[in-house]
Amino acid sequence: MTAVGHLDKVKIKRSFAAAAGSYDELAVLQRQVGLALLEKYPLDASPGVILDVGCGTGFLSRQLPVDSSSQHLVALDIAFPMLLASRQKNLNLPVHYLCADAESMPFAAHSIRQIYSNLALQWCQDLPAVFAGCKRVLKFGGQLVFATFGSSTLRELKSAWAEVDGFAHVNEFYGFEQINWFLQDAGFQSISSEVAMYQSSYPSVMALMRELKGIGAHNVNMDRNKKPTTRRQLQHMISCYEGNMVGTEVLASYEIIFVRAQR
Ligand SMILES: C[S@@+](CC[C@H](N)C(=O)[O-])C[C@H]1O[C@@H](n2cnc3c(N)ncnc32)[C@H](O)[C@@H]1O
Repeated sequence: MTAVGHLDKVKIKRSFAAAAGSYDELAVLQRQVGLALLEKYPLDASPGVILDVGCGTGFLSRQLPVDSSSQHLVALDIAFPMLLASRQKNLNLPVHYLCADAESMPFAAHSIRQIYSNLALQWCQDLPAVFAGCKRVLKFGGQLVFATFGSSTLRELKSAWAEVDGFAHVNEFYGFEQINWFLQDAGFQSISSEVAMYQSSYPSVMALMRELKGIGAHNVNMDRNKKPTTRRQLQHMISCYEGNMVGTEVLASYEIIFVRAQR
């Protein structure tokens, strides 16, 4: 079993805080995946608290068909500007906002009925701690539903950088088996999970890099090269990547893991 590299949480928080204004314009894949997640694993109608973990600017919160007479939505994010953006976009929704870390959620045991999370848990290094926390706060019979990136995400970018040097330029994500294993180890039951590959195309490698930066998805690996990348290194990586162009476009793969697990 491989562990993801050490993630720099301060950088994660700063990157997403800085991206709160540009996120929505660029987060096409995130919206696509959020809708697919709800289609696969819809919200159930049982009364109680629903938690959106890593809510970002509130796209998933908006899509959840919450029955306000019996259900209460709490949206949690580590980056305060993301919560402000979410509140601004969801003014007409009765949502409670909480700035907190998914790796240590400040809720009472058995207080939440359903936990949803779209493309946020990949930023948590200690996924076993996240799942143990989810298990602790969920009511018996409650569900944990999420989509996260798998280990083949951005494999083309990873390969292109591997031609340049040995540093970790692309974030490492846990694989499908590891995630399933962590869930079982945390004591979740009836785990249903599947993987889907998504591909996005870009007119250039720089367009892909701009998108990653604009949504806050910086390289947050502690093993990254702390020295600035030189123009020559960047150009080398780009020519390796663009060596595999399809027509006039470069492709980037995203492995998405969809999960529903029951407490
Ligand atoms: C790619 S965005 C996804 C946002 C939203 N769920 C969506 O579907 O558009 C990831 C979000 O996770 C948040 N995040 C990252 N690490 C977190 C952590 N440890 N605890 C809580 N939120 C975190 C980021 O601040 C960011 O808003």
